[in-house]
Amino acid sequence: MEISDMGQGLIFVLGVMLPILIVRWINDVVRYKKKRLPPGTMGWPVIGQTFNFMKEGPDFMKNRRKLYGDLFKTHILGCPTVVCMDPDINKQILNSESKGFIPGYPQAMLDILGEWNTAAVHGAPHKAMRGVLLSLVSPPMIRDHLLPKIDAFMKSFLAGMGGEVVDIQAKTKEMALLSSLKQIASIEGGPLAQSLKTELYQLALGTLSLPINFPGSNYRRGLQARRRLVGMLREMIEERRASQISYNDMLDNLLNSDESTKLKLTDDQIIDLIITLIYSGYETMSTTSMMAIKYLHDHPRALLELRRENLEIRKGKPADYTINYNDYKSMIFTRAVVYETLRMATVVNGLLRKLTQDVELKGFVIPKGWRIYVYTREINYNPETYSRSLQFNPWRWLENNLESHQHFMLFGSGTRLCPGKEVGTVEICTFLHYMVTRYWWKEVGKNNIMKFPRVQAPNGLHFKLTEYEQFE
Ligand code: HEM
Repeated sequence: MEISDMGQGLIFVLGVMLPILIVRWINDVVRYKKKRLPPGTMGWPVIGQTFNFMKEGPDFMKNRRKLYGDLFKTHILGCPTVVCMDPDINKQILNSESKGFIPGYPQAMLDILGEWNTAAVHGAPHKAMRGVLLSLVSPPMIRDHLLPKIDAFMKSFLAGMGGEVVDIQAKTKEMALLSSLKQIASIEGGPLAQSLKTELYQLALGTLSLPINFPGSNYRRGLQARRRLVGMLREMIEERRASQISYNDMLDNLLNSDESTKLKLTDDQIIDLIITLIYSGYETMSTTSMMAIKYLHDHPRALLELRRENLEIRKGKPADYTINYNDYKSMIFTRAVVYETLRMATVVNGLLRKLTQDVELKGFVIPKGWRIYVYTREINYNPETYSRSLQFNPWRWLENNLESHQHFMLFGSGTRLCPGKEVGTVEICTFLHYMVTRYWWKEVGKNNIMKFPRVQAPNGLHFKLTEYEQFE
């Protein structure tokens, strides 16, 4: 980046943005003083309590809950926000989109993911787009089309790592991205996959940035990556239309969506849906897979049980076997490992909603335009639901019907319950199957894992993989 560009950016932020934000802050404080707001403090002008939130991590929520109860106000990430930690009310909020609780994800995310991204639409357009999404990942689709693709991908992607030290964080990120490219558009590695990967990494980074469009900012880079990505996807759509070949993948289904869902999508809608699909599964899938490897390494009894179940599945099959839907259905313990990992690592801390009207909650009034942080993290560690909640114990999912528990929100709830829940679980189970039947893994060095606000290993997570001897 040129120095003069940086200077211009700084002048823009200090001279234009800052005064606007301060005036808006003062207006907010005066306007909302009269309302029956929940308890809590808003912190400093403009920045609010964002720094405390980032620095204190989960303790930020815990400490305020002790002071103010399950519902409190604050000002984080540029918005007046009410944090809700009451599981019943959280469930109610996620079921009440039509009563004014629409998705409230940051502006950068909405700009970069596009106007037809599911988080950007609500009401009838959301219902229509969601219907198309669900048709792409329905159980018959998974059984007949997606699982065979996932299986073939995992088998080759996880081959030949015996004797190597692998950064499992980088590996699972690549896995999540390349696997979705294969499912969506039958893209199998090669230069196209590499170009898409570069743009998608940049795009994902941009969605988590402040929406300040100056040269060199992650936001601008994210927008640029989006533009290039849209160009590539448009070209791909044109090639598909011109060709007679049937790929039988998600892109084919989207291009013919009027046959299955009676909804004819425009090219812009198809492109944004593809970006939504890749983006939504990317971090959730890669982080869960990475953390499963780590937890299993640290809990040998669980690793042994996982191996036992998966060796049983491959018993009697030919050397070039594939996993079918019945095999997947019999991965009871493997599925439990996935859920326990999601719970323990808390891959999703909470969900954001924005109010389209004033809403009353627990006797308080939350003003139109405010955000609600449906904070679900603490549910995962509630000892009443999960006994010895800080222990990694996949068996708990076999004993109690926890998936049907009223506070089960690992995949959200209500009108936006994750449509990728099942296909995502299939993918991680398949990943674990090929890992555990082929390798032992031992952690190398001291790897630091941060759990908040996102689960990540800043310097990677390294394991030495050794070929599993009984595997011919
Ligand atoms: C372990 C894996 C996953 C986890 C933990 C997860 C979690 C979630 C959660 C909590 C939500 C609710 C968001 C909200 O209410 O604002 C959600 C929504 C969504 N997820 Fe997933 N997800 C996973 C995998 C996937 C995969 C693989 C896909 C794609 C195939 C996907 C696609 C989506 C989409 C499109 C939405 C938005 C739905 C809507 O707005 O109606 N997810 N996910």
